Amino acid sequence: MGAMTRRIDIVEVGPRDGLQNDPGDLTTNQKLEFISRLEACGVKRMESGSFVSPKAVPKMADSGEVFRGLDRDSAVRHIALALNEKGIRRAIDARADEINFVLVAGEGFGERNQRMTPQQSADMLATCAPLVHEAGIPLSATISVAFGDPYSGEVDPAVVANLAAQAQRAGVAEIGLGDTIGVATPWNVRAVIDRVRMEAPDVYLRLHFHDTRGAGLANVAAAVESGIDVIDASCGGIGGCPFAPAATGNVATEDVVYMLERAGFETGLDLGKLIETAKWLETVLGHPVSSSLSKAGGFPG
Ligand code: COA
Ligand code: ZN
Repeated sequence: MGAMTRRIDIVEVGPRDGLQNDPGDLTTNQKLEFISRLEACGVKRMESGSFVSPKAVPKMADSGEVFRGLDRDSAVRHIALALNEKGIRRAIDARADEINFVLVAGEGFGERNQRMTPQQSADMLATCAPLVHEAGIPLSATISVAFGDPYSGEVDPAVVANLAAQAQRAGVAEIGLGDTIGVATPWNVRAVIDRVRMEAPDVYLRLHFHDTRGAGLANVAAAVESGIDVIDASCGGIGGCPFAPAATGNVATEDVVYMLERAGFETGLDLGKLIETAKWLETVLGHPVSSSLSKAGGFPG
């Protein structure tokens, strides 16, 4: 296919979404080893930590140290997650290469995860965005529970599109649509993408799926068919949100890479090294990971 090969960029979220809720406890040095192993797999963009309350998410309490320990000579863009002004200031101090702000599309999850209504999360973004712009740091935002809220139920795509429009006005360059609890289907993935594009036409879209109810890879395929070319994934398929009941991991990076590359897309990631990294993760986390490729291996061999 040569020059015509379509490129899909994968944002690795294992060191943040992956580790924030895993029963295994990695030391700061083990987190840094995870990050450098991912770099060796070809990862160019990754969520490397989270600047939230350490009481809310103890596993991310050492994100400041993680950012201090990063190899800044590499070309990797390290993203810091934040959802309030204190977190934004901490992420700027940590010299994050990009800040990903968390908007919330559901009332129930918003209350438990960040003590904000959807509109309060948009207002917080509008307050914080100028700080990030002044610091010259690229700003993105992920709309969590964009396909369903574990406490309030169905989420109206109009609410998601309205949050996206407000984020666009705040100068956000890229919006992630997050299926935090894994309830999206390929058909509503298309519908939500279309709706968001109508109301926030100038932002780039990234899709974030959790494989909680078996539709994760199908949703990735639907997003790619809808023209999306940035997908979040976590090595091993580890992860989940501590404030979502029965949460499970993101779609696994190696599973997404396998599916896309077998279909002729280019990801720039090394499948063999990703599988090795998932197996290394099992040893440091002390439990098996959920990805299919770490068990079955690629094809053809
Ligand atoms: N970084 C570090 N500490 C923070 C913080 C941040 N970004 N934001 C608040 N805190 C601290 C406050 O300083 C305060 O500390 P203290 O008790 O020592 O005085 C404490 O947290 C409570 O602050 P408050 O503003 O009252 O927050 P809250 O208790 O209403 O909780 C959040 C709101 C947003 C801080 C909290 O729910 C949170 O961090 N949630 C993160 C959820 C998450 O990461 N989910 C997964 C990813 S989406
Ligand atoms: Zn997530």
